[in-house]
Amino acid sequence: MVVSSLLAIFLCFSMHSVAQDEQQVPIIDYQHRFLPQVGRNGMVVGPERLASEVGYQILQQGGNAVDAAVATGFALAVTYPRAGNLGGGGFMLVHLAQQNRQVFIDYREMAPGASTRDMYLDPEGNVDRKTLYFSYLSAGVPGSVAGLLHALEQYGTMTVRQVLQPAVDLALKGFPVSFALHSDLTERAERLGADPAAGASYLVNGAAPALGSVFIQPDLGRVLQTIRGYGHSGFYEGWVAKTIAQAMAENGGIITEADLKNYVVVEREPVRGTFREYEIVSAPPPSSGGTHIIQMLNILEGYDLKSMGHNSAAYIHHVIEAMKVAYADRAAHMGDPDFTPVPVAQLVSKAYAQQVREAIDPTRARSAAEIQSGTFEDTESLDTTHFSVADQYGNVVSNTYTLNFSFGSHIVVPGTGILLNNEMADFMTKPGTPNAFGLIESQANEVAAGKRPLSSMSPTLILKEGQPWLATGSPGGSLIISSVMQTVLNAMEFDMNIAAAAAAPRVHHQWMPDKLRIESGVSADTIRLLTVLGHPIEENVRTLGRTQSIMIEDGWFLGATDTRRPSGWVAGAQ
Ligand code: DON
Repeated sequence: MVVSSLLAIFLCFSMHSVAQDEQQVPIIDYQHRFLPQVGRNGMVVGPERLASEVGYQILQQGGNAVDAAVATGFALAVTYPRAGNLGGGGFMLVHLAQQNRQVFIDYREMAPGASTRDMYLDPEGNVDRKTLYFSYLSAGVPGSVAGLLHALEQYGTMTVRQVLQPAVDLALKGFPVSFALHSDLTERAERLGADPAAGASYLVNGAAPALGSVFIQPDLGRVLQTIRGYGHSGFYEGWVAKTIAQAMAENGGIITEADLKNYVVVEREPVRGTFREYEIVSAPPPSSGGTHIIQMLNILEGYDLKSMGHNSAAYIHHVIEAMKVAYADRAAHMGDPDFTPVPVAQLVSKAYAQQVREAIDPTRARSAAEIQSGTFEDTESLDTTHFSVADQYGNVVSNTYTLNFSFGSHIVVPGTGILLNNEMADFMTKPGTPNAFGLIESQANEVAAGKRPLSSMSPTLILKEGQPWLATGSPGGSLIISSVMQTVLNAMEFDMNIAAAAAAPRVHHQWMPDKLRIESGVSADTIRLLTVLGHPIEENVRTLGRTQSIMIEDGWFLGATDTRRPSGWVAGAQ
């Protein structure tokens, strides 16, 4: 059993609650070097302290997980500008306890109406990376405000005013600059300073505001007040939309007032699979994440992973061989399902997993060139952030949203404080040319007006005995899929508590480039054995992914914010 409960902690700190919950007191198994934090009445786990606390306060006021998630999402736009956003997009997966069902809210950005297939090619036919990443043309039509408000209206219990107020206060009254914010802004000062409005919003005399100084964002506050007053139309119509469209027109961008007005949130059926006794519920296209997480788990389910041993060379070898096939399939097949048929059912079938297993050689790494993506006859029609929320009523939210890069295009629409995304870079802009995450993609993901760029974002829920057991997700572009897969596999197959599952060293291979990335913490002996099997090991690897997770066991909320980055926060109390 995983840490179902943390008896010793409670014995030390709270005799009262132990006595109250005698029947359900969980036991620490003392097998893992990491322990989650424990909560009793709901929990919010996210990348930044103030925003997690905002969500938890909403839970304490009686709000449900959706209310708390929406409040956290708006608060992060203020306190965590590298990825929290109004000008980006994302995906929210919600478990509704009363109806015992999950809904997936797709609020991914859409390509503006004037987008064309070759819009990022220069006269020589090469991808113009500056235009693609750091210009007004980089932005897709933002979906975050629409998506968060849709979730609130459909599945929340509170008013827009209630959930927006904390974000308004954080923007207008300000908050002290943390170590993490200070270092983010220091690292990005030059690029932010290149855009006058971004410089004015985030820098003081061209540098990050001092540690501990009060950081106020009056323009962003005014936008949040407008959304607080007018809801969806406060952003997609009226002065905010007009200001965005005008800045676009003046700076070579193409998003119009009509594009903003036409933005649509789509509810989709999540992609589903199983791993042994567990059910996996995750992100369907236009994300590739859920499909490939399930595909890899299906392949790995056919092996005796426990006997191989966690993170042994044999284990990593099989994980990596499965990963390469999944990423090769991503390259070949994935795109916006509203524009192109995507073979999800085939990719997540147990039969296809069996076929893939038959081609995996336990004694040898296959090169990327040897790996074929599947062929299916019938097809059915650098920063992101994740947070997970669970409430006392049994609802759970797993939300990943993004501007694409940290600070998106690093462009702020003057007078609004809104950072623009550079999500258009997630389209395939030239056949055979890797995107910013090194991913190769197919025509299924070429640019078209109104289309959503292919994503890897993978907000995921694992159900045990039909009930939510684990909510998680990660940033990291292409690393998201492999990070989430390994985190849930560690919990399901190796009985790790959620903190241990998140902390365990991760590996990554995305088919192309043909390189195996291994985090620190895997032994040199293991790496040598992998080299002998023929794996091309990448040197100097940074950490892979940053999960924000909640596990629910016996009525306890067990939270883990990934230790790979500063400032993550578990908000919840016993
Ligand atoms: O949607 C995607 O897959 C990318 N735009 C995510 C970017 C990302 O995670 C960057 N974070 N480190």
